[in-house]
This record gives sequence, structure tokens and C-alpha cells, in this order.
Amino acid sequence: MSLEIVPDVRDGEHVIRDMLFPDIEAVSAIERRTFTLPWSPPIFSGQLARETGIALVCEIGGRVAAYLIADMFVDVWHLMNVAVDGPYRRRHAASGLIEAYFAITEMHGHRGHTLEVRVSNKSAIDLYRSFGFVSTGIRPGYYSDDHEDALIMWKDWEGETA
Ligand SMILES: CC(C)(COP(=O)(O)OP(=O)(O)OC[C@H]1O[C@@H](n2cnc3c(N)ncnc32)[C@H](O)[C@@H]1OP(=O)(O)O)[C@@H](O)C(=O)NCCC(=O)NCCS
Repeated sequence: MSLEIVPDVRDGEHVIRDMLFPDIEAVSAIERRTFTLPWSPPIFSGQLARETGIALVCEIGGRVAAYLIADMFVDVWHLMNVAVDGPYRRRHAASGLIEAYFAITEMHGHRGHTLEVRVSNKSAIDLYRSFGFVSTGIRPGYYSDDHEDALIMWKDWEGETA
């Protein structure tokens, strides 16, 4: 699935566009700075190659500052990865990416959206709640490095019928 370049309408600072293979180096560097269990570059390449996948980057000032990866499994969208490089946080990069993701996914029927997030990750949980995700359960010990629990979040499709 792809997205034409959509300039962020709020302040003109962000450009949200499809992630391309040449972006993987910059995206992987953010990933390594951000997560204790980072995806490797081949995982990003594999996602870019998937027909059903959505992979977006947000550029700020011409630099890749944030990204989002999602994929459809059966009839549910899985929001698999969202990260914003440290200096660019709290500037609505993640919100812009999620809005673009909804603009793409809401065009076609599906059951809803799901994701997992560390139970301690209050900023991400607040972000997802602000988009209407609700907590639906816990996956105990989900993260293999420290066995932290994952919170499962869900959002219904808001279209006609799935
Ligand atoms: C979580 C994360 C993606 C948020 O990205 P961001 O671009 O800073 O978020 P936004 O600026 O779009 O924030 C949107 C809303 O989310 C919530 N939010 C975001 N960061 C927050 C924080 N540190 N504390 C509290 N609320 C926060 C707020 O409601 C915020 O709205 P506001 O700024 O108007 O108050 C970013 O902090 C990040 O990359 N964290 C590390 C990676 C990660 O946790 N990814 C998610 C894994 S599931």
C-alpha cells in the first residue's frame, strides 16, 4: 500500500511519505537508539516487500525523524512499530504518522486495529489512547529481554461494515 506525499497540515514542518529501501539505514539507526530489542535492517526490508504492509516515514527539516510500520493479518491491522528519534519527540511526528496510517487503512473494510506496547511505556499508551485505542488485555512476559508484560490495545474500524 502506498501514500502520496502528504504535507502535514498543522504546521508545514512534517512531510509524511512512504518508506523506501534507501531509508532503511536511517530508520535502523533510530530503531537501535530507541529500542532494547531493535528490528534489524532485513526485518525492515522484509516489511517493505510485503504487499499488505504500510511503511511510512516522517521527515522533519529534510531528515528522517520518525517511522511507522503496520500490516494486515486476516482482517485486522497490526500497528507493529512506531518510533520518533529523541530530539524530534513531542512535535506531533507520531501523531502525524498515525493520522496518515488511518487515512490509508480506513478506506477499506476491516475489523479494527491492534498493537502491543510495554506496560511501562506511558507516553506511547497515552498517544494510542488519544487515537481511541483501548486496553483489552495483557501478554505476560511478552518482551524477551526483561520479560516485561505487553499491554494489548484495540481500536474498532469506524467505517460502514467490516
Ligand atoms: C511514544 C512516541 C512514539 C511518541 O512520539 P511523539 O512524536 O513524541 O508523539 P506526539 O508528539 O505525536 O504526541 C502525541 C500525544 O501523545 C502523548 N504523548 C506523547 N509523548 C508523551 C510523553 N512523553 N508523555 C506523555 N504523553 C505523551 C500526548 O498525549 C501527546 O499529545 P500532546 O503533545 O498534545 O500532549 C515517542 O515518544 C517514541 O518514539 N518513543 C520511543 C519508542 C516507542 O515507545 N514507540 C512505541 C512503541 S509501541
